[in-house]
Amino acid sequence: MTTPINRLGTLHETAIEQRDPCAHFATLITMDEEGQPTSRIVTLRSLDQDGIALLVNADSPKIRHWRMNGKWELSGFWPSIMVQYRLRCDAELEQTKAVRQEWLAKPHASRLADLYHQRVRPESAPLPSRQTLLDELAALDAELENDMAAPPAVSRLLLKPKLLEIGRASLADRLHDRRLYRLHAETWTETILVP
Ligand SMILES: Cc1cc2nc3c(=O)[nH]c(=O)nc-3n(C[C@H](O)[C@H](O)[C@H](O)COP(=O)(O)O)c2cc1C
Repeated sequence: MTTPINRLGTLHETAIEQRDPCAHFATLITMDEEGQPTSRIVTLRSLDQDGIALLVNADSPKIRHWRMNGKWELSGFWPSIMVQYRLRCDAELEQTKAVRQEWLAKPHASRLADLYHQRVRPESAPLPSRQTLLDELAALDAELENDMAAPPAVSRLLLKPKLLEIGRASLADRLHDRRLYRLHAETWTETILVP
């Protein structure tokens, strides 16, 4: 059976085929301690019928927000096909051997940054200067000598959509095609929205 997630997956594949620079990125929005929305870019590691997988630091502010209030939205835009989407979801945070293996495939600089978060300063902590970061990263790189094991906080976040809006823009006539899907007791409903 084709589900809205499959539909999003098919559009994602098309965006990748079109070499869309935004194909692998999305915006993850959480609600912070003051109830304010806060957003950041994340990388889509996979998008299939199970949901959308991200790699995150379990100690980061975004995960702290989620644990605090359970709210988030993921949104993205693929300009090559003029498709926007947003979704709300349940989520699972996994810290498994397979996740640590996946982490090992990340580029060196990316792994170094994750280890920096674990050993030196946590993600999103304030820095006295940019030079401090560069010096501390160089020192950590020299200390590790490529002996890199995944930090314990490295996690796979699996987003399982319960609400999904897909919009296909038609700039020529403004008759954008907007569809809102909601999951109720394992059945998806579709509502067509005024563009
Ligand atoms: C292109 C790009 C891709 C990124 N991908 C991820 C990602 O997959 N996972 C992640 O945790 N942070 C990623 N980041 C960093 C986040 O945008 C963010 O700065 C960081 O996760 C800290 O967010 P937080 O303090 O709100 O938790 C990416 C940033 C950019 C610019």
